Amino acid sequence: MQRIYFDNAATTAIDPLVLEAMMPYFTEKFGNPSSIYSYGRETKMAIENARKSVAKHIGAKPAEVFFTSGGTESSNTAIMGAVNDLGCKYIITSSMEHHATLYTVQAIAAKNNLQIGYVHVLPNGELDLEHLQQLLQQSTEKTLVTLMHGNNEIGTILPIEKVGKLCQEFGAIFHTDAVQTIAHYPLDVATIHVHLLSGAGHKFHGPKGVGLLYINENIKISSLLLGGGQERNMRSGTENLYGIVGFATALDLAMQRYEKDSAYIQSIKNYMWQQLQKAVPTIVLHGKLQDSLYTVLNVGFVNTPKAEMLLYRLDMEGICISGGSACSSGANSVSHVIKAIANGSDVIPIRFSFSRNNTMQEVDVVIEKIKAVLEK
Ligand SMILES: Cc1ncc(COP(=O)(O)O)c(C=O)c1O
Repeated sequence: MQRIYFDNAATTAIDPLVLEAMMPYFTEKFGNPSSIYSYGRETKMAIENARKSVAKHIGAKPAEVFFTSGGTESSNTAIMGAVNDLGCKYIITSSMEHHATLYTVQAIAAKNNLQIGYVHVLPNGELDLEHLQQLLQQSTEKTLVTLMHGNNEIGTILPIEKVGKLCQEFGAIFHTDAVQTIAHYPLDVATIHVHLLSGAGHKFHGPKGVGLLYINENIKISSLLLGGGQERNMRSGTENLYGIVGFATALDLAMQRYEKDSAYIQSIKNYMWQQLQKAVPTIVLHGKLQDSLYTVLNVGFVNTPKAEMLLYRLDMEGICISGGSACSSGANSVSHVIKAIANGSDVIPIRFSFSRNNTMQEVDVVIEKIKAVLEK
C-alpha cells in the first residue's frame, strides 16, 4: 500500500543529502571529539564547523550555539536556567505551549513556589499581546517570558520581534520554542532580542535526537547534566556527532531552499483547505490560513460517529495524519491547544502538516478518502 505522510509537524523524513553528509561520521570518522589525536581532532572540527554554520544562519555567535538532544532538552535547560541561575521569580507563558515548556514551567513553579501568568488566547489562536504587556507591567519580580514562535498544533505565529521588544522594555528574560520555525523561516536572534531559543533537527529533514539551544552571550545558565563538560560545560556527554553534522546540513539546505519550498508548501496547504471546504462544507479552520505556519493546517470536523473514526479509517488506508500534537498522534482526545481555542464547541480536530515531499495529487487522494469515510 502506498502511504501518504501528512504529519510533518510531528517529524520529517531525513533528506538524502543530509544522510550523505552524516554517513562518514558513522563509519571512518568515528573519533570521540574529546580525544586529542587525529580521530578526535577531525570530529571536533566537524562539530565546530557545524556550530559556525548554525550560528551564521540564526545571526548568533558560534559561542552562543549549544547542541542538545532535542527541543525538549533545550526548553528544559532554558526554563530551569532562567529560574535557577538568572533569578526569575515570575513566569509568563501561555496555555498553547508544547508540553516541553508547559510541564517544565509548572514543575519548576510548583517546586519554587512561583506564580505563573498565562497570556490570554484570542479566538483565532493568537496571543493577546496587550494582556502580555499588562502581565509584564504588573510583575514586581524578575520575569521569564516563555512563548513559542510557531504553534505545532494550529500553526499560529508569535510576532516575535514585538514580544522581544516588550521583554526588553520590562527587563524580562525571553525564551522562545522555535522548534516549528527554525529552518522554516529566516531567524535572526539579534533582531528579536531573545535570550534563549530552542530548536530540533527532526522537524526540518534532519536527524532525530539532536537539538539547538541558543544562549545569548550576556547571560549564563547552568547545564542540566553534570559530567565531562562537553559543549563548554552546557551539555555533558559525548557529542551526538553525526546528529550535529546532520542538524547543520539540514539547516543549511533548508535556508538555501527557503523561498521555493515555503511557497510550494503554502500552495499545498491552501489547496487542501479549498478542497476540504468543498468536500465538507461544515468544516472549521483552527488558526489561520495565511500568516501562520505554512506547514500546518488544523481543521475541525463536526463530531459524528463517522468523523470520530476518521484518524483510524485513514490510517487503514495508509494516510498518516494527526489528531493533536506529535506526542499524542493517533490519540483521539482533544488536545490542550484545541481546548484553548475551541470555546467548548464539539469538533474532531485533525492536523494535516506538509513538507516539500508532498504533492497536490496526494491532497486529491486524501480528500477522496475523507469523503468516502464520512459518506459511507
Ligand atoms: C513546538 C515543539 N516544541 C518542542 C518539541 C519537542 O521537541 P523534541 O521532540 O525534539 O524534544 C516539539 C516536537 O514535537 C514541538 O513541536
